[in-house]
Amino acid sequence: MKSPEFKTISAVAHPNIAFIKYWGNRDQALRLPCNSSLSMNLSGLETRTTVRFDPHLTRDVFVFSGEVVVGPVLERVSSFLDRIRSLAKLNVYAHIISRNNFPAGAGIASSASAFAALALAASHAVGLDLNEQELSRLARRGSGSASRSIPGGFVEWQAGTSDADSFAFSIAPANHWDLVDLVCVLDSTHKSVGSTGGHALADSSPLQPIRLAHVRERVDQCRKAILERDFESFAQVVEEDSNFMHAVMRTSNPPLHYWLPETEIVLWNVLNWRKEGIPACSTVDAGPNVHVLVLSEYASEIENQLAELSGVQKIFKASPGPGASLC
Ligand code: DP6
Repeated sequence: MKSPEFKTISAVAHPNIAFIKYWGNRDQALRLPCNSSLSMNLSGLETRTTVRFDPHLTRDVFVFSGEVVVGPVLERVSSFLDRIRSLAKLNVYAHIISRNNFPAGAGIASSASAFAALALAASHAVGLDLNEQELSRLARRGSGSASRSIPGGFVEWQAGTSDADSFAFSIAPANHWDLVDLVCVLDSTHKSVGSTGGHALADSSPLQPIRLAHVRERVDQCRKAILERDFESFAQVVEEDSNFMHAVMRTSNPPLHYWLPETEIVLWNVLNWRKEGIPACSTVDAGPNVHVLVLSEYASEIENQLAELSGVQKIFKASPGPGASLC
């Protein structure tokens, strides 16, 4: 066993919002997704994580928001660190301190920024110098969507066919397009079935093969729309893809109903605003909160209108953000 000097390393990563969703794995353990996905990192929202491997520890210690974490969350973090320990060929436990600058239950999936920041900090802390592709593959093992929080700006995660070719890469830098994500928080309580449990149910829906049948076309349309800054085409495919995912969720066995009546109210208003010529569209992840995507020049106007809608408790505003970095 090696006994190298261990450094204390910190990293920052941003959550991301998927325009074309990841839902269902072809290999649950490796987190090889059924389909490729597209997303944008969210600037201003972040996870900061500090890692130090310590030969004196008898187990991993994980402190999140000032609280020592035990149970399934610690187990998930520990088994992710096992992957790094095996890559580095060492058997030393780590001390991890992590903090988000956005609250839990804000409608922003925190596992993406959490595992992206942890992958970067922990790999450096053991002396591994992984490139972006390797980091994205590593982050994927912690949480699928975390693979997309490693590269910057607008990001594609190619599904691939094996661990080696399932990683994410940037398709355009953050300054490519002035999009704003207005995250409408309708309910901040914890969801009963999280993404990991949800992915495992995807195949129980008779609609999952139908969702997957044309997902490549949706990825192509969405990528093209982003590259050409074609909001109308982007809006159409983003809403269609979110609706496909929720159709699969609702028809899973057991069914997953993430929406609230207020979710539908926001979606309905966004559709109407677009009919009136305002470039806004919506997408919903595994929860009731709605991400309203809008061109930045309309962001304040739409934010004010969203704030008036029934059930909107809070709105977070984010623009395209950078990839994960050491800090
Ligand atoms: C609905 O990446 O959170 O947000 O790999 O089990 O951690 P795990 O799942 P996760 O799933 C994200 C699901 C989604 C869609 C998306 O972000 O693509």
